[in-house]
Amino acid sequence: MARMSKGAVVTGSGQGLGKQIARLLSDRGFTVLATDVDLAKAQETAEEIGGFALAVDVRDHAQVQAAAAAIVERAGSLDVWVNNAGVLVTGPAWEQDEAQRRLMIEVNSIGVMNGTVAAINTMKDAGGGHIVNIASLAGLVAVPGEAVYAGSKHAVLGFSLSTAADLHLAKIRNIDISCICPDGIWTPMLHDKLEDPAAALSFSGKLLTAAEVVKAVGQVLDKPRQVTAVPRWRGVQVRALDALPDLALKALPLAVGMGRRTQKKLVRKGLQP
Ligand SMILES: NC(=O)c1ccc[n+]([C@@H]2O[C@H](COP(=O)([O-])OP(=O)(O)OC[C@H]3O[C@@H](n4cnc5c(N)ncnc54)[C@H](O)[C@@H]3O)[C@@H](O)[C@H]2O)c1
Repeated sequence: MARMSKGAVVTGSGQGLGKQIARLLSDRGFTVLATDVDLAKAQETAEEIGGFALAVDVRDHAQVQAAAAAIVERAGSLDVWVNNAGVLVTGPAWEQDEAQRRLMIEVNSIGVMNGTVAAINTMKDAGGGHIVNIASLAGLVAVPGEAVYAGSKHAVLGFSLSTAADLHLAKIRNIDISCICPDGIWTPMLHDKLEDPAAALSFSGKLLTAAEVVKAVGQVLDKPRQVTAVPRWRGVQVRALDALPDLALKALPLAVGMGRRTQKKLVRKGLQP
């Protein structure tokens, strides 16, 4: 098919970070397919940014593949695929039911695998492209209160880095995979967790705006990078904690206290993301 424009797909782009990433890609001249499990929200995004929308539950590989086919049909090529859809249920794993644990693994981990595989199969013989996987700082370090979520995001890192290596060994050099690992972001995901002590660690750093994370996405689009923590210094900090797990446990009450104070302050202020 003749090349018409650059095509991009963003999963979970009905609200929050995904919506802002879809806007960035549209501003950069991509034809954007906004997808979400909630079609009405995806359509809202598409209308706002001038793209088009499709209902895609990232847990369903057939729906994900249909999105890859739809962008090629509309734009002529798939150049950027952003795996952004994610869910967070807090609490110790033993207090969650099986459905909650399964949901996080299926959306956050298998969803990223589905998107990455569909993108690679579409891009590899068609000029290549860039896959951006939205992981989390929780993909780099232990996060008590968010254990299953952290497990699902560690899977994103392990899978993405290993798949990038497989592409390299297979001499498929026209596809990049970049992971973004943000600290807590002020989006509806965390707004829903303001009264939830188990989510305290998500609030223990300086809360990021979606715009700050979108900026990091823009930077890796310009220059692919396998792992980018946002902010960068938090990436260094959590890797040091990984190396010193006993010290990390001792520092935990301090971090939880900081997070709780931020949660209470945000409740008092009554701010919306
Ligand atoms: N908010 C944070 O503090 C934070 C920090 C680090 C990483 N992240 C990650 O950033 C990404 C975006 O998060 P957000 O804060 O914008 O969350 P959000 O809850 O505001 O938005 C998530 C979007 O994903 C969609 N979604 C949920 N399940 C889906 C499914 N099965 N298929 C397709 N779409 C689905 C939702 O409908 C929603 O539109 C997620 O991967 C999240 O884990 C968020």
